[in-house]
Amino acid sequence: MSKITQLKSPIISAVEAIKDTYLFRLEAPEIAREAKPGQFVMVRVGKETILPRPFSVHAANGREISLLFSVVGKGTAWLAQKKKGETLDIFGPLGNGFTINPDSKNLLLVAGGIGIAPLRFLAEAACADGKQVTIIMGAQSGECLLPVTPSQSLYDKGMLPADFQCVNSTEDGSEGFKGLATQLIPHYLENIDQLFACGPVQMYKTMAKMPELKDKDVQVSLEIMMGCGMGVCYGCAIRTKKGLQQVCKDGPVFGMSNVEWESSPF
Ligand SMILES: Cc1cc2nc3c(=O)[nH]c(=O)nc-3n(C[C@H](O)[C@H](O)[C@H](O)COP(=O)(O)OP(=O)(O)OC[C@H]3O[C@@H](n4cnc5c(N)ncnc54)[C@H](O)[C@@H]3O)c2cc1C
Ligand code: FES
Repeated sequence: MSKITQLKSPIISAVEAIKDTYLFRLEAPEIAREAKPGQFVMVRVGKETILPRPFSVHAANGREISLLFSVVGKGTAWLAQKKKGETLDIFGPLGNGFTINPDSKNLLLVAGGIGIAPLRFLAEAACADGKQVTIIMGAQSGECLLPVTPSQSLYDKGMLPADFQCVNSTEDGSEGFKGLATQLIPHYLENIDQLFACGPVQMYKTMAKMPELKDKDVQVSLEIMMGCGMGVCYGCAIRTKKGLQQVCKDGPVFGMSNVEWESSPF
């Protein structure tokens, strides 16, 4: 289990990486040291909102972590106004992240929209471990896709390094394949040992019905609404084959076949 640290974390940089989506680099050495791909931190977002909000660790390097978040409501709008040099109250790392089997060689990652947030950290860790990584990124339109760059130095601006193969899909066809990311999955399954996904619950429900994935090791990160983030309030309970489980403590990463998709309160 990771050691959880609470701290006032200085913002090293804060940029709008893509439309309505922000990349924050935070100084958080204790969390950077402990964090594993798929884990998250809780961030306090102003005085009006009592509950802190969960965000995946997008990257962890040395003394810093990055968060990538989209503005969807009050808390994220407050966060988006914060500037370099200000501090954020955060605690983490929390939850159980993704598990890469040592024997796996080829990994397929599927990101629906802001679901790319935890998958970047996973992709970088997997590449560093010699795995072949393909990422399918799905978004509504091209302007919502994180750009890919051959230069890590542009990391600051919210780019994805080009160490892994990226395949884009957009619902309006403005970039890459026209359609949903899930439609591309069957075309990229050859030699794939494990599949990792992060996106909306509807994406998982579609994947759970795909016959091609029936015998595959598929791990999904559930970004549902949370209360405490620490296993206290039971606001994040879902039904699984192992009974009721808490997304914040037992997850957020679950085996796709373990989740009772139709009877959980999504
Ligand atoms: C483990 C975990 C990791 C996450 N990582 C990221 C991340 O890296 N980047 C990111 O942008 N977001 C992430 N999220 C989602 C993020 O926590 C929410 O978008 C955020 O809490 C919304 O806060 P708000 O105050 O702006 O919205 P609110 O004002 O609370 O809500 C605004 C609207 O958004 C909806 N909403 C709120 N939270 C969620 C949610 N989790 N899923 C679906 N709809 C929601 C509400 O129903 C409401 O309609 C993660 C969630 C979890 C559980
Ligand atoms: S969010 Fe409180 S128990 Fe999970």
